[in-house]
Amino acid sequence: MTNEALIQEAKKAREKSYSPYSHFQVGAALLTKSGNVYHGCNIENASYSPTNCAERTAFFKAISEGEREFEKIAIVGGPAEKEPEELCAPCGVCRQVMNEFCDRDTFEIVLMDGPDAIKVLTLAELLPYGFTLE
Ligand code: THU
Repeated sequence: MTNEALIQEAKKAREKSYSPYSHFQVGAALLTKSGNVYHGCNIENASYSPTNCAERTAFFKAISEGEREFEKIAIVGGPAEKEPEELCAPCGVCRQVMNEFCDRDTFEIVLMDGPDAIKVLTLAELLPYGFTLE
């Protein structure tokens, strides 16, 4: 699947965002090596700290279905009621979850970079010196 198509899947995932507190909607689309796509959105909570990011929603859905091999994730985010345009990079906690399940040198994070551009980063670039099992 192309990066552009995966970004479109992330936009679809973002439509499901539950974000009544921040009004910041995030969507993620996680592509497995077997070709499956898992959608995730951010899910907020009145008590704030139980909030789950879009990226972790996608990962936890996939992992709980038995998936273990991941190719790339697309992420889009921005204020509600507006098409996302600006780069929305994953938070540190989500990077650490990716680090648990993905190859740091080949797993790609696909981000919008303005309305018509895409930025692709490896996990190693986003999380140098991540904590691992090793
Ligand atoms: N959020 C994500 O879903 N992913 C990120 O990587 C950064 C932040 C969500 C959490 C919260 O619902 C909202 O964005 C504002 O922080």
